[in-house]
Amino acid sequence: MDKLTLIQPDDWHLHVRNGAILKIVIAHTAQQFARAIIMPNLNPPVLTVDQALAYRSEIIKATPVDSGFTPLMTLYLTNSLTADEVKKAAESKFIHAIKLYPAGATTNSESGVSNLKGIYPILKIMEQVDLPLLIHGEVTNNDCDIFDREKVFVGSSLNDIVKHFPNLRIVLEHVTTKEAVDFVLSASNKVAATITPQHLMFNRNAILAGGIRPHHYCLPIIKREHHRQALVEAATSGNPKFFLGTDSAPHLTNAKENSCGCAGCYSAYGAIELYTAVFDQVDALDKLEGFASCYGPDFYQLPRNTKTITLQKQSWTVPSSYQVDNETITPLKANEILNWKLIN
Ligand code: DOR
Ligand code: ZN
Repeated sequence: MDKLTLIQPDDWHLHVRNGAILKIVIAHTAQQFARAIIMPNLNPPVLTVDQALAYRSEIIKATPVDSGFTPLMTLYLTNSLTADEVKKAAESKFIHAIKLYPAGATTNSESGVSNLKGIYPILKIMEQVDLPLLIHGEVTNNDCDIFDREKVFVGSSLNDIVKHFPNLRIVLEHVTTKEAVDFVLSASNKVAATITPQHLMFNRNAILAGGIRPHHYCLPIIKREHHRQALVEAATSGNPKFFLGTDSAPHLTNAKENSCGCAGCYSAYGAIELYTAVFDQVDALDKLEGFASCYGPDFYQLPRNTKTITLQKQSWTVPSSYQVDNETITPLKANEILNWKLIN
């Protein structure tokens, strides 16, 4: 097969930032995806419906005209989010979920939740109004090894949340471990997961291959090979609990190539091509459309897209960088060859 036509995909986990970065990265996303769930971890974070609507307007203004792209907004869950704000979010047709960052887990998570039990009353309301909870699933205590943080979160905090709120729709974002995959498989159909291209393509050696590779550093950190294999198996299984979410997280090159480099891989420039390569490698191209274009909208109770995209088997080289004013963003797989290209 050298051509592949799919229902247009959506990205169910995306960071577009604001200001100058927003302009370039939203153009990349809008070339590929019809919709994307927009992460609220700006500095300062998106805490209220009004702030999310203002951010939505900024995104729409930065989106190339006629792209038809729709941003799907989220709120950032803090210890002080109110029940009224949750209800207002549920009533807004523009807000699709609330994102839980354990405080200190990742980029701009300082305002996140420090005491999970403290937000249970809010989760109760989300369950009642059927507003999905998106979870960055890692514990943050320093005595837990960074490679174990997801596994421990899943076995403790997530397990408890799912038990207390059986009807709450939950997306465990960017799963990176076999334990997380197994948990999602064993949970009810209220629990789903997104999977990123980097966690499907790389194991943890890629972070330290011949030297420190800052563009392979993201959170949750990339894990061992057997975890990667479990993720590939889940993504390509045709199970609707697993769907596309890039976690494309742009940082300026000098903020990544730094003595304390930021976490995040920039994949929006060619996300669907990256996923296609993974599915092709394991002879599962027939499972790509479900993962990329069907199971996400089904979970979010939105219609599937009606347009299609076409990919062609054709080699191209990923640019070394993308310009943002006088700075650059370095993409995941910079200067490397990809074998599939989006042609329309
Ligand atoms: O690597 C990451 N980067 N993981 C996250 O959870 C956040 C993201 C970012 O916003 O940079
Ligand atoms: Zn993210």
